[in-house]
Amino acid sequence: MDSILVTGNGPLNGQIPIAGAKNACLTLMPATLLSDEPLTLTNAPRLSDIKTMTALLQSLGAEVSSLQDGQVIAMSSHDLTSQTADYDIVRKMRASNLVLGPLLARFGQAVVSLPGGCAIGARPMDLHVEGLEALGAEIELKDGYLHAKAPGGLKGAVHEMRFASVGATENIVMAATLAKGTTVLKNAAREPEIVDLVECLRKMGAQISGEGSSTIEIQGVDRLHGATHQVVTDRIELGTYMLAPAICGGEVELLGGRMSLVASFAEKLEAAGVSVTETANGLMVARKNGRVRSVDVVTEPFPGFPTDLQAQMMALMCTAEGVSVLEERIFENRFMHAPELVRMGANIEVHGGTATVTGVERLKGAPVMATDLRASVSLILAGLAAEGETTVSRVYHLDRGYEHVVRKLEGVGAKIERIKGQ
Ligand code: UD1
Repeated sequence: MDSILVTGNGPLNGQIPIAGAKNACLTLMPATLLSDEPLTLTNAPRLSDIKTMTALLQSLGAEVSSLQDGQVIAMSSHDLTSQTADYDIVRKMRASNLVLGPLLARFGQAVVSLPGGCAIGARPMDLHVEGLEALGAEIELKDGYLHAKAPGGLKGAVHEMRFASVGATENIVMAATLAKGTTVLKNAAREPEIVDLVECLRKMGAQISGEGSSTIEIQGVDRLHGATHQVVTDRIELGTYMLAPAICGGEVELLGGRMSLVASFAEKLEAAGVSVTETANGLMVARKNGRVRSVDVVTEPFPGFPTDLQAQMMALMCTAEGVSVLEERIFENRFMHAPELVRMGANIEVHGGTATVTGVERLKGAPVMATDLRASVSLILAGLAAEGETTVSRVYHLDRGYEHVVRKLEGVGAKIERIKGQ
């Protein structure tokens, strides 16, 4: 298995291009199932999660081609052969469950494996099921699979989610595009990836309003048609690389970045003493002198501080002046990076969903292990700021969500290389 070797070496300077959003692409791809005409996505990220979604769609009979070195994904669901998402693919990636709503809406039936537990918590699907049942679906759990039916088609309804789940919002919105009548989804998630999905669905002929607010209204239509859509910038990759100059010092411009995608995160960086400014091409992040100050963080649904940046922010707080408290409210069990950071000399105490970090002057390089996608990149960030060498193993997690991480960080002066495993 490959590993990443990082050597801490002073400030970073230059530019990093930010890719299209993994989480947007993973919901835009299943949208192809809603129409028999082609859907083409541009600005797609080159990631193993995208390959997993490609394999899933192909297993349903969709044609999926990767063009222009993976940046364009051309799809057609003209001749689907199956409405079953198999455990073998779903277990690899929870976002596989996003085929449920589209299949059910277009074919009146779908069988989708439950994703099972994953490293960052239980992650059930009850909110997806409740929403689709409100639209008239009958859903049963048998042998680890959700068997969903809507023999007479889905019907629009007013439904309020108990929690603003991102995936459930996406599944319900996609399903409602082809339902009869109007659906009003209350307490919907407001993430930019949902706005991006709605913009794409609208290009396909869907009638939707209210995206980006907590009430989304969908007027069902008989059919959707083909479209071409550009995937929105990855705000988590953006936030991650904003932390590189924050943690090492220096000045880095994140090309394609926008403040509106990372406002609450940027606010915390500024409170920590890092400057964030908009430029013509993206965002400029700079830290000139001295250590950053500690700040407290609570993860929340968008527009709050994203859970997907909590691990990386913790890496920064490890060397901040003072004590910071990071509270994780979205996922239980999402502090598995903490013991690894402690191996690098960090002072962190975890109690339930709260981590208390007392900053130290400097971290020390060590062999560490990636435990999930965001944890893996937090260890790389910590390694960039540490004294000596850090080897991060199990980097297959990293390949799920960060394209060309070595090339992007090398481009701003980091000492980082990928070591091929046996
Ligand atoms: C998406 C993102 C993920 C991000 C998360 C929260 C994708 C592919 N992934 O995941 O990177 O960390 O949003 O911003 O877009 N829950 C339930 N029942 C459900 C659904 C969710 O209890 O039916 C719980 C989950 O266990 C979790 C919380 O709700 O504790 C948030 O989950 P959700 O918003 O659904 O996240 P995902 O869509 O899985």
